[in-house]
Amino acid sequence: MRALKILFVSSEVEPFVKVGGLADMVGALPIELAKLGHEVRIVCPAYGSVKRVGGWHALPRPLGVDVGPSAQWARTWETVLPGTAVPAYFLENHDHFARPEVYTGPWGAFEDNDLRFAFLCRGALALCQQLDWIPDVAHGHDWPTGLLPVMLNTTLRDTPLGRTASVFTIHNLEHQGYAPARVVDFARLPRGEFLRDGIESGGMVNQLKAGLWHATKLTTVSPTYAKEILTPGGGFGLDGVLRFRAGDLLGILNGIDDESWDPARDRALPSNYSAADLHGKARCKAALQRRFGLEENPVVPLYGVVSRLVAQKGLDLLAEALPAVLDRMAIQLVLLGSGDVRLENSFSWAARAYRGRCGAQIGFDGKLARLIQAGSDIFLMPSRAEPCGLTQMYAMRYGTLPLVHATGGLVDTVENFAEGQGRGTGFVFHAATAGALADTIGWACATYYDRPLEFAGLQRRAMAQDFSWRQSAGHYVDLYRWAVESRTGTYPA
Ligand code: ADP
Ligand code: GLC
Repeated sequence: MRALKILFVSSEVEPFVKVGGLADMVGALPIELAKLGHEVRIVCPAYGSVKRVGGWHALPRPLGVDVGPSAQWARTWETVLPGTAVPAYFLENHDHFARPEVYTGPWGAFEDNDLRFAFLCRGALALCQQLDWIPDVAHGHDWPTGLLPVMLNTTLRDTPLGRTASVFTIHNLEHQGYAPARVVDFARLPRGEFLRDGIESGGMVNQLKAGLWHATKLTTVSPTYAKEILTPGGGFGLDGVLRFRAGDLLGILNGIDDESWDPARDRALPSNYSAADLHGKARCKAALQRRFGLEENPVVPLYGVVSRLVAQKGLDLLAEALPAVLDRMAIQLVLLGSGDVRLENSFSWAARAYRGRCGAQIGFDGKLARLIQAGSDIFLMPSRAEPCGLTQMYAMRYGTLPLVHATGGLVDTVENFAEGQGRGTGFVFHAATAGALADTIGWACATYYDRPLEFAGLQRRAMAQDFSWRQSAGHYVDLYRWAVESRTGTYPA
């Protein structure tokens, strides 16, 4: 089979810039595709905060980017995904990417996001032309790349890039990238594309919707989420468009980078371990308890949270349930996250009110995230909606049982504990209420104390799951070939 040329365009890529799981996905899937023999290149902005991991060098020629009234310029930095030969390019431009923030700027400066990410899309495609590297497929991720398929379908249709198929992945339907109509001119799109059945929505441009209309094929990051978004309840106003395009939409479960996330090799941990010998996990638990000033008790169940603190993650349910839970149950809890100020405050309050049993760190800390995954017994994820979710998979790999709300990718990855039947990999609750969450925390707590052998069985099964990218990467390759066939009429066998 012919190797494919695949361009990834994304606003985040691990380990250079990360806000959430999008970065993990874009930093991992290309590696697996490359192992299958395909040629992948990644393009991302060089934000002021980008981490220059590994060797970086600037390409000798400046990149002209066709946006706005007269061309703008970018400097292109080239590097590779660490430990691989997969090229990653970062576009530097003072006006659009100098500030450190990925999405939100100081003083609400996210109003220019339409211009910033239109620049990314045009820039990525201009770079392909400059490098004379015409991809078979351009794979965009979430609303920041929604205009990419529109560009391929319109102004670039009669260029060599006109044969490039597009795949657009929805990582989260909630963020749609509404923008004023000015972005049409800035991105140099034909004004005639400003259509209800296209990129327009309520007099604005909806960049996510643009991608949904224009991409050759659509994916989302789990099979269950692919079904949920077709319903009015889960479609965030776009279920109609998605139903219209349902024949081109596939739910492909995310994988995890199981080399980076491996408790036997993770250098962020004070002690390594594997399913065969969990002593190191107990040492991680003690270290985690020390880190948060909790009582160093090896036999109290320790619950962990690592999350963006936003409504989607259902952590308001935890904040509501927490005082009663901590009053009634002999448990400990640690949380790492940032986002909604009210949530930050209520967890900081709980850490003070229940000193020694509850700890909270507000912020983003990749190393501490790993210690929490390793040192906790149970990992909490009460998400109201979860397109896929990666942290529950990291938890299982680290022998930490996920406790999740039955939604989206959580349904596809966590099997509920069946008492006495030797089945399950975690604890699942079905009503998104503080009461149901508290009850399930209690159930996990009782299992920990009263059924230690069954708890150990759950851990063993969780650690034995294969969440690697290997399987899903194959599904993406099939999808890319299908997209190329739809675009060019020939199946690239
Ligand atoms: P989402 O992308 O919706 O935030 P995922 O579960 O897919 O959810 O991915 C979240 C990723 O971000 C994981 O790699 C998780 O470890 C990381 N993460 C989230 N919050 C923090 C934080 N405060 N500090 C460090 N890592 C975090
Ligand atoms: C989004 C989703 C999350 C998913 C991640 C990676 O941020 O909220 O569920 O795991 O993207 O696809």
